[in-house]
Amino acid sequence: MQQDRATALKTIADRVAACRACRLYERARNPVPGAGDPDAEIVFIGEGPGEQEDIQGLPFVGRSGQYLDYLLNLIGLKRSQVFIANVVKHRPPNNRDPQPDEIAACEPFLNEQLAVIDPLMIVTLGRFSMARYFPNAKISSIHGKPRYEGRVAYYPLFHPAAALRNPALRYDMEDDVNRIPSILAEVRRLRSIAAGIPDAPPHEDDPPRQLSLF
Ligand code: URA
Repeated sequence: MQQDRATALKTIADRVAACRACRLYERARNPVPGAGDPDAEIVFIGEGPGEQEDIQGLPFVGRSGQYLDYLLNLIGLKRSQVFIANVVKHRPPNNRDPQPDEIAACEPFLNEQLAVIDPLMIVTLGRFSMARYFPNAKISSIHGKPRYEGRVAYYPLFHPAAALRNPALRYDMEDDVNRIPSILAEVRRLRSIAAGIPDAPPHEDDPPRQLSLF
């Protein structure tokens, strides 16, 4: 499975590199399709590549990325254990906001990546990825509140750059990140129930169950 997913993600990355569906490729140095574990349980979705990401072709490798690494470390994760992507995969010039037509042009790539990885949890970083799952919501009121839908928990967080700019947000940001393991556990529980697996399997120390006489 790992190989199949890795191959599928590589094929998507190759198509991103050749993509001319919007203007962003014209001034970008490298495509930044996304990176991480093809079997990741968690996918983080940011906004778009910045300068360092554009130079290296990798997501979140600048200051925001260092803070994201710190946040992952709070819950015992490394970036190699998750998958990190963006809503647009070429750098918007001068780090301007991605425009709606650029987001729309890039959307099929992100959708395909998510379909391949089939994560338990999709963590949105900032307002552009949040808008995919929580249209019209305000990040200040919904950050840190998961929505369980289908097989996935959608979890909106502040963008790491916002927390770097405004240190008062870091307490919330770090609290929100610290809640990720319990949200993952809840998705696993919900998936087990949906698959017909009993919620709490009997423990070996439990007294033997009485056999029914009928
Ligand atoms: N900010 C983003 O949203 N994505 C990156 O990859 C880097 C910074």
